[in-house]
Amino acid sequence: HITAVQAMEILDSRSRPTLSVSVGLADGNTARAGVPSGASTGSGEALELRDHDASRYGGAGVRTAVGHVNGEIAAALCGRDFAGLSALDQALIDLDGTPDKSRLGANAIVGVSMAAARAAAGQAGVPLWQGLATDGATARLPVPHFNVLNGGAHAPNPLDFQEFMIAPLGAPGIAEAVRAGSEVYAALRRRLAEAGHTTGLGDEGGFAPDLAEPEEALRVIVQAITDAGYEPGTGGVAIALDPAASEFRQPDGTYRVNGQVLTTSDMITRYRQIVDEFPVWSIEDGLGEDDDTGWAELTGALGERVQLVGDDNFVTNPAIITRAVQDGIANAALIKLNQIGTVTETLHALEVCRKAGYGAMVSHRSGETDDTFIADLAVASGCGRIKSGAPARGERVAKYNRLMEIGHRHPDLPYGLGR
Ligand code: PGA
Ligand code: ZN
Repeated sequence: HITAVQAMEILDSRSRPTLSVSVGLADGNTARAGVPSGASTGSGEALELRDHDASRYGGAGVRTAVGHVNGEIAAALCGRDFAGLSALDQALIDLDGTPDKSRLGANAIVGVSMAAARAAAGQAGVPLWQGLATDGATARLPVPHFNVLNGGAHAPNPLDFQEFMIAPLGAPGIAEAVRAGSEVYAALRRRLAEAGHTTGLGDEGGFAPDLAEPEEALRVIVQAITDAGYEPGTGGVAIALDPAASEFRQPDGTYRVNGQVLTTSDMITRYRQIVDEFPVWSIEDGLGEDDDTGWAELTGALGERVQLVGDDNFVTNPAIITRAVQDGIANAALIKLNQIGTVTETLHALEVCRKAGYGAMVSHRSGETDDTFIADLAVASGCGRIKSGAPARGERVAKYNRLMEIGHRHPDLPYGLGR
């Protein structure tokens, strides 16, 4: 049974407060989890509870959420035995009582859920990814999507697209994939420096140069892939975009991209041109979260050619993803634990994608800790895709290093998209 549930305030990678949660079991196993936090959030995400006390951390403190863990949640869980993680997560959902986990805070709840999952794996004597195994899922090492060039809400530069990622789809294994990511990242630094750009980093560890438009970023990334000795494209190192279009969608329904005002159909044309010209294999949040008709058009126009990932519009919600599958919106979902708020619901979202033949990409947040839970989650689900920022900055590298550790210990695990 559970003997202790405790939380404290720590800092995330942007120097904002978040929670560290630990769960202790009667057999002596205890485990800790660090809670991630986003900046370009979808409006349907579970609620991240902040103190709004302007005298501490500019109002961003999480003492209220910490108090809920140490008070109500600990009182409800301690001394109890749960049949499994889903029973524990259901108890948390019931205790909170709101659809968006706003009473106790999704940051409080997800931290308890993650720490409990880790403690249970420790009790079972298996690595976390084995503890997260679900029926029908085959473990697999995912293709890392390294965010090497940052813009949008994650960097102070003028680029309106948020993320430019490189994906070593053609790598023979995870160690070689990480090496490719690191070598292309180094080549990109040289290219940018030679062109007189700053090589300072954005929130996710990618460079944040003052480039005038997305295509300029794509051009220099292709050069860096070639410089590093890799083949640009799905046989070698491909590119994935997360424009995070909700962030630059205007109230009148247009999109403002580096000074240009574009309609939804202009945006789709732009993406078609990008896919024609560059080795882009995946586009996430290419349109705004409320642009439903646009998403259907985009899927019709490019869904056969590239992966189209829903993030802000799907918010890791199994019911929303189920509806999107029926409506033919996108062909993949981004998976973030704190968007939905429990490990069980996150596993359910992954299961919906798997059964529907949708892609799924497990993701970090732009605000992170040294926690590596998502590496094990991606392996357990067999979803074949993960994004955790650049191959730089400790909180990003921790996840990639964890993937390499799993690959090292389990050389028989397959690597790659898997479909
Ligand atoms: P966020 O960004 O963590 O700031 O929300 C990540 C994303 O948009 O995928
Ligand atoms: Zn996104």
